[in-house]
Amino acid sequence: MSKLSLVVASGLLGPAPARAHPRCATLSACSSTTPNTNLDRNPSMTPERIGLVQQGFRAVAPIRTEAAAIFYRRLFTIAPELRALFGSTDMAAQGNKLMASLGFVVQGLKQPDIILPAIEALARRHAGYGVRDVHYEIVGQALIETLEEGLGDAFTPRAREAWQAAYTMLSQVMVAASRTSERPETLP
Ligand code: HEM
Repeated sequence: MSKLSLVVASGLLGPAPARAHPRCATLSACSSTTPNTNLDRNPSMTPERIGLVQQGFRAVAPIRTEAAAIFYRRLFTIAPELRALFGSTDMAAQGNKLMASLGFVVQGLKQPDIILPAIEALARRHAGYGVRDVHYEIVGQALIETLEEGLGDAFTPRAREAWQAAYTMLSQVMVAASRTSERPETLP
């Protein structure tokens, strides 16, 4: 089993569905149920951009706790009203979960078929947390500002473009998936 499959199997992105999707024997064999996500053929995620995003995340990894703190500080500065969504949340634990899930996505950019079902499940849980489409843009802004602050000069214009493309792709997939619900296990 690959490292990535292990991450998926261990439920890093939260409780796994009973089965990845109807008709799929295993998560790695599972294809998306979300229409038009186009994750695996996204032309904006060139190999160069994937490399830049992965390189940037490696640079952030040693300061992940601080990066998560910067992220939420930025987020609540941009949109103080979002604090209400995290009313009873342990923010240190939440920061760890966020960084772990971002790491999972970044690591899987070259294997979108593996990460897509987990991203869709994450998006559906977010709909239940009260997250709305408009919030994804705000989170994207906070993420870019965090990278700017955390990476300094290493966050070059090309790295910024790469992260923006990656986040746009991720948020489009999540917004689309948040409108869907898991199909019933038994299909005609
Ligand atoms: C776009 C990428 C995002 C990623 C990778 C991400 C990641 C996560 C993860 C891993 C969790 C832990 C719970 C779980 O796995 O279900 C979580 C919870 C949460 N996220 Fe996100 N998230 C994203 C976007 C957003 C957005 C746009 C919002 C809106 C403000 C948001 C608000 C929340 C809230 C309210 C929780 C629940 C906190 C609690 O436990 O009370 N997230 N997120």
